[in-house]
Amino acid sequence: MDVKTYHFPPHGDDRGQLIAIEEHKDLPFDIKRVYYIYDTLTNVRRGFHAHRNLQQILICVSGSCKIHLDDGHDTAEVVLDAPTKGLYISNDMWREMYDFTPGAVLLVLASEYYDEKDYIRDYDAFLNMVKEKENK
Ligand code: TYD
Repeated sequence: MDVKTYHFPPHGDDRGQLIAIEEHKDLPFDIKRVYYIYDTLTNVRRGFHAHRNLQQILICVSGSCKIHLDDGHDTAEVVLDAPTKGLYISNDMWREMYDFTPGAVLLVLASEYYDEKDYIRDYDAFLNMVKEKENK
């Protein structure tokens, strides 16, 4: 699977680090929503869905976590373990997030407002949608 990641360069100096992400310069979409996941227990696995129309960039800004991706044919595991690393996820991609280290914060930049109707939460329905699109 072709996994697309971004490197966001830090503006570090002897005071510490700072990363800036600017719409139209550093991202392939306009940001309509930002959310972050934190206080996740180490044994928790979450996500378990795909989206019909949503682009996202996931950045573990503190600590680390893993992302399981599944396009209906292939799977990939991506480790997000640096605030400089962004994982791009587009439509029609099943994702699960897990192995959060204590205190990990997963920041998500999203191209659309929250819309529960955009979610595909059933894995078989996801596979059927992938097949239907391929047969079109
Ligand atoms: P949920 O979809 O269960 O999270 P995940 O897929 O990462 O496991 O979201 C948890 C709750 O937060 C659920 O009640 C929906 C709500 N939520 C919003 O209100 N806005 C959002 O942008 C997101 C992502 C979730």
